[in-house]
Amino acid sequence: MTALKNDRFLRALLKQPVDVTPVWMMRQAGRYLPEYRASRAKAGDFMSLCMNPAFACEVTMQPLERYPLDAAILFSDILTIPDAMGQGLYFETGEGPRFKKVVSTLADIEALPIPDPQKDLGYVMDAVSTIRRELNGRVPLIGFSGSPWTLATYMVEGGSSKDFRKTKAMLYDNPHAMHLLLDKLAQSVTSYLNGQILAGAQAVQIFDTWGGNLSAAAYQEFSLAYMKKIVSGLIREHEGRKVPVILFTKNGGLWLESIADAGADALGLDWTCDLGEARRRVGNKVALQGNMDPTVLYAKPEAIRAEVARILASYGNGTGHVFNLGHGITPEVDPEHAGAFINAVHEFSAQYHQ
Ligand code: CP3
Repeated sequence: MTALKNDRFLRALLKQPVDVTPVWMMRQAGRYLPEYRASRAKAGDFMSLCMNPAFACEVTMQPLERYPLDAAILFSDILTIPDAMGQGLYFETGEGPRFKKVVSTLADIEALPIPDPQKDLGYVMDAVSTIRRELNGRVPLIGFSGSPWTLATYMVEGGSSKDFRKTKAMLYDNPHAMHLLLDKLAQSVTSYLNGQILAGAQAVQIFDTWGGNLSAAAYQEFSLAYMKKIVSGLIREHEGRKVPVILFTKNGGLWLESIADAGADALGLDWTCDLGEARRRVGNKVALQGNMDPTVLYAKPEAIRAEVARILASYGNGTGHVFNLGHGITPEVDPEHAGAFINAVHEFSAQYHQ
């Protein structure tokens, strides 16, 4: 394997010294880029991009051709697992994800298979190895999965939801069924992420997009407990390097201390928490990733630069910070604004690493 030419992303996650703060953007390959929209048109639709390793590799590389990003992220989706469990994922244009089969009863859950990463999700493993070859050591490759709770919401609702009505009803009416579903998902996510690591992912992130929608008690029992279980089953060293694990619970700012105890190397933060305060709360346990409000990218470059400077100052001196947005970049963002954001991180952060 080729040596990494730029490893500051992995170093910052492990709290090792860096020259400047590394930066990448959640959803960095996506609709805000005209070249992404062209590739999607060529492939036919979003799932065809994901399922064809050459296309997945092409769109993963697009933001790296434009910007000096410090990491690449596998182009795929968190809903590949429920699809591999037989739910039949499809995307209705402009409507988000949908499933042909919905999970409603204990019997539905008992019948769900645990996907084999090689047999059932081989297209994702092939995308990872194809992208690693194409990157040729330029920057590290991030693999990812949804958290069990976040995946469960899509599986039970049959798609996106505003209030998680069916999922919450199942949690409170039938906690035994919900725990069985989450346990099957935790097993699936563990082997899926380990498959990605063996195929070449050099760090992994678990997206708990909807964990922050739970009560404090339910978050511990129905989301964090299963992420902990996953973390304890992951391969943590491969190709002679540590493989850092990042947990991102959106709206999890109230629970940072307990998330920091889950055994991961880093926590992702959305923009509702103050980065400096988060650093004091988690102490030396974990690195932090985040946390600019993605809508700041609608403002002019000068305002974007000022916000980057404010966030860097809030974190302060030293390593342990990976700059990112607090959630995914949106389709309406001007690609030049994304460029101003990334350049500002490198330009303004050198002073904090002397
Ligand atoms: O970050 C990256 O560049 C890697 C790619 C990536 C995608 N989805 C591609 C995608 C990642 C990391 C995801 C994760 C994902 N998918 C999450 C967790 C992160 C988050 O945003 O909270 C969730 C909840 C999903 C489920 C999902 N996929 C939804 C709700 C949607 C529809 C909303 C939307 O933005 O259209 C998707 C589709 C999707 N996944 C797109 C992309 C680029 C847009 C599809 C298109 O091209 O039309």
